[in-house]
Amino acid sequence: MSAYTYRDNVFTVEDVPFAELAGTYGSPLYVYSKKTILDDMRRIEAAFDGMPHTTYYAVKANANGQILRLLAEAGLGADVGSGGELFLALRAGFPASKITFSGVGKRDDEITYALEQDIYAFYVESVQEIGVLNQIAGSMGKRARILLRVNLDIDAGGHAYVSTSLRHNKFGLPHAKALEVLQHAQSLPHIDVRGIHSHVGSQITKSAIFVKAAEAVAAIVQRLRDGGIAVQDVDFGGGFGIQYHGFIRHRGLPVEHAEEAHLTSTELLRAAVPTLRKLNASISIQPGRAIVAHGGVLLTKVLYRKETEEKTFLIVDGAMNDLIRPALYHSHHQIVPLLLTGAPYETVDVVGPICESGDFFANDRRVPRMQRGDMMALMCAGAYGYVQASNYNARPRPAEIMVDGASHSVIRPRESIETL
Ligand SMILES: Cc1ncc(COP(=O)(O)O)c(C=O)c1O
Repeated sequence: MSAYTYRDNVFTVEDVPFAELAGTYGSPLYVYSKKTILDDMRRIEAAFDGMPHTTYYAVKANANGQILRLLAEAGLGADVGSGGELFLALRAGFPASKITFSGVGKRDDEITYALEQDIYAFYVESVQEIGVLNQIAGSMGKRARILLRVNLDIDAGGHAYVSTSLRHNKFGLPHAKALEVLQHAQSLPHIDVRGIHSHVGSQITKSAIFVKAAEAVAAIVQRLRDGGIAVQDVDFGGGFGIQYHGFIRHRGLPVEHAEEAHLTSTELLRAAVPTLRKLNASISIQPGRAIVAHGGVLLTKVLYRKETEEKTFLIVDGAMNDLIRPALYHSHHQIVPLLLTGAPYETVDVVGPICESGDFFANDRRVPRMQRGDMMALMCAGAYGYVQASNYNARPRPAEIMVDGASHSVIRPRESIETL
């Protein structure tokens, strides 16, 4: 059952009315539901139907220490994209043996730190990076385990900024080069070639893309093995899409048609599992969004209504510095009032106070009419939300709160202007 419900028209997370949280902790406010995060994590795990695998949670999606701790305690590994994320993952209790390091631009000091900690593997993306890794590992008397990120040249659809597997993207190496590159890597004394990795993109909602990617990966594995590379590990990446439109359904809310396919992250991954199962390798994945997106909500309050000849604006106290996804990728976050009053629907732009036209949460959105002081929830903000928040316009970042049943606690305090 969903953790989000209207009880007597009061929007509630687990057993706590959102308005109570805003009253206690202020606004804007990030609120997380522990139950939702754990349920979504189990949904992803269920896709494997008992097949042995490792799930490396993509820390970039949400790096809050308490959320990391929750996932570490649940037995997940972590995929990090920087030395900072590695530090946070270790501090949260992920064992180094269950940490992988992705990214096109690892700095020398980050490589040194990861080698010192003896993480499981580096996901390498260029020939030069392999050389640097060999040299640094050699100077430390170590061997670095690597998986080569292969660029499958698959169009995953979606916003151009989240496409990662087209030939012109900066990620990975062309699959046609994989054999040559890994044969070279295998000849280096301080490199231990473990296998390959692919990550086709983010917010992918069509199972056919994952099937195509898995088949492409299988073909590459075969070619590599034929060429003398003992592929032992295959990491299939993340990118499992989630439902943003119409996530909350209630007769008091406008109907939002789900643009996303009606497939759960479980079904998306499950489509690829039979192909991955046949690879005779250790399989891993790196989901981020599918684990944490639904578990987070951004609360914000209407400061002003402004009606012009063209538009009605709801000017709210949250802004693009708190949640940049609409401005950055034109992402859709469903907006629902914290109290349903039976007010008629109207079409509005929901905008923040920052002096940028890009500072909006929604354009031409149908919502129940709201007044100054009313509060709303921006749904599905748990992934790529707070992690991308900034202090633009000298705005302190919001607090983060974790709800667990009827209890709630601060998992990151609100910043103050003194700390800016
Ligand atoms: C290498 C890699 N792995 C995993 C992820 C997580 O993706 P998602 O949150 O869409 O599952 C990303 C996201 O950008 C990534 O770049």
